Amino acid sequence: MQKKSLLYSGKVKSVYQTEDPERLVMEFRDDATAFNGVKHELLENKGKVSNIFNAFIMQKLEAAGIKTHFIEQISDNESLVKPLDMLRVECVVRNVAAGSLSKRYGIEEGAELRAPIFEFFLKDDELGDPMINDEHIVAFGWGTREDINKMRELTIKVNSVLKELFLQGEIILVDYKLEFGYNNGELLLGDEFTPDNCRLWDASTHEKMDKDRFRRGLGSVVESYIDVGRRIGISSL
Ligand code: TMP
Ligand code: ASP
Repeated sequence: MQKKSLLYSGKVKSVYQTEDPERLVMEFRDDATAFNGVKHELLENKGKVSNIFNAFIMQKLEAAGIKTHFIEQISDNESLVKPLDMLRVECVVRNVAAGSLSKRYGIEEGAELRAPIFEFFLKDDELGDPMINDEHIVAFGWGTREDINKMRELTIKVNSVLKELFLQGEIILVDYKLEFGYNNGELLLGDEFTPDNCRLWDASTHEKMDKDRFRRGLGSVVESYIDVGRRIGISSL
């Protein structure tokens, strides 16, 4: 499938049109960014590793009955996806306290939660992705009650599939962020699922194996992503 004009360039991915309007090329670049674009570096092989990782997870989710925009991997760092009209909200589920949750409520990182927590954030780098709730989404027209219910349901369903998958590799799925969009009236999981948008800790040592390595300058970022991938059975990593 030939790449045509660039449709969109984000912080770590670029999306291109093809001759088929129902198929886009999503290219993972080697960029690593954090703190809403403030920290930026190029990490060798990150694009390739992220693309392979994302393809594996999207296929696992599809197999579990969660519809996604993913069609197929077409090269080391590119996959075909369906076009989506994205909702401007980010859906986060947390299984263990970390990151902004710990900061906001003064809860120690690593604290067990009595139940998983679902949160919405507004996707807006300039505003620093503020946390929002159902009322903001409806009142500001960022989505309907139906969108909210579907996103919450799908995001929580992803938790049961992926918590188990990572646990098989002795990795704790601490938290993650998902984005959704519409394709021909159907709500699909979009964007990506890679260690860039979740937290993954080694189950016995609690060593960080995700983008916190980059955020906190811990080094071995791509190496850790590969390690996670191998532990969950991605044979091509
Ligand atoms: P947080 O602790 O910074 O709120 O992030 C929670 C999880 O969601 C963490 O795995 C990182 C991910 N996330 C993103 O990938 N992008 C974002 O813009 C936000 C707000 C969170
Ligand atoms: N939205 C932020 C970013 O992608 C969150 C982070 O620090 O990862 O830059």
